[in-house]
Amino acid sequence: MRPTPDWLVAEPHQDVDLGVLKSGKEAQINLIERQGADGRRCLVARKRYLPREVKQKGALEALGVQHASTFRNDVQYREGRQFRKTRDRRAVERMSTYGKRLLQDRWTGHEHDVMLRLWECGVTVPYPLSYGDDVFDLQYIGDDRQAAPQLFAARLHPDELRAAFDQLISGLQALAAAGVAHGDLSAYNLLWWDETLWFIDFPQAVDIAANPQGLNFLHADVVNICQWFGRGGIAVDAEVVFADLLGLL
Ligand SMILES: Nc1ncnc2c1ncn2[C@@H]1O[C@H](COP(=O)(O)OP(=O)(O)OP(=O)(O)O)[C@@H](O)[C@H]1O
Ligand SMILES: [Mg+2]
Repeated sequence: MRPTPDWLVAEPHQDVDLGVLKSGKEAQINLIERQGADGRRCLVARKRYLPREVKQKGALEALGVQHASTFRNDVQYREGRQFRKTRDRRAVERMSTYGKRLLQDRWTGHEHDVMLRLWECGVTVPYPLSYGDDVFDLQYIGDDRQAAPQLFAARLHPDELRAAFDQLISGLQALAAAGVAHGDLSAYNLLWWDETLWFIDFPQAVDIAANPQGLNFLHADVVNICQWFGRGGIAVDAEVVFADLLGLL
């Protein structure tokens, strides 16, 4: 069992919102300063999922193609995930209003649970702290001056790129050993900080064994990120990487 991080501050704590770190189409990340009862402080990233209200029939389409496909993908991603009640499972499969609501509610908890599982398996992911209805608190990667850059913007020297690639491979191996496919792996969902590669953004992650599309997601992830490293000058055969990962499942 991996010991809990030593930077966790004692409860009860007080939070001060320092403002928006990143704002995008799916989520907004705020930087939170947390003061613990023990007088220690730490920084926390607070991810707030942007609302995707689907209240009535037709509302999904009214939101536009992009959102509609997000929801459809959602079902694809979540196949094999457990909705304990048959009624719930059917509602999700039929994409009834109730089913869509269920999917939305599951979003934050799922990302938290996947990241905790991965963190416990030793994968380099920010430590997940807690989640609520539409927010998810996690370890902030960066310092007081700047947040860790996404890999695509990190301007790595060739030897750093090589180190990042080696860490990518060991991270993918750890993910595969944990039975998880990221599902949206790219140089946007990897952070580079202090010579370390961090995997982030897991709401769409799937259990490879339980999800009929699991291997397809894993394959797409590997091809996508290997292409990025390939363009940077790392000679890599994505199919070989994929085949090696299959051996770890
Ligand atoms: N723990 C963290 N520490 C520092 N920065 C973070 C952390 N988590 C996320 N970020 C920053 O916020 C960005 C968005 O986070 P994330 O990838 O989890 O959400 P997203 O769903 O992709 O959001 P969007 O689609 O709106 O970009 C990241 O690319 C990264 O720059
Ligand atoms: Mg992202």
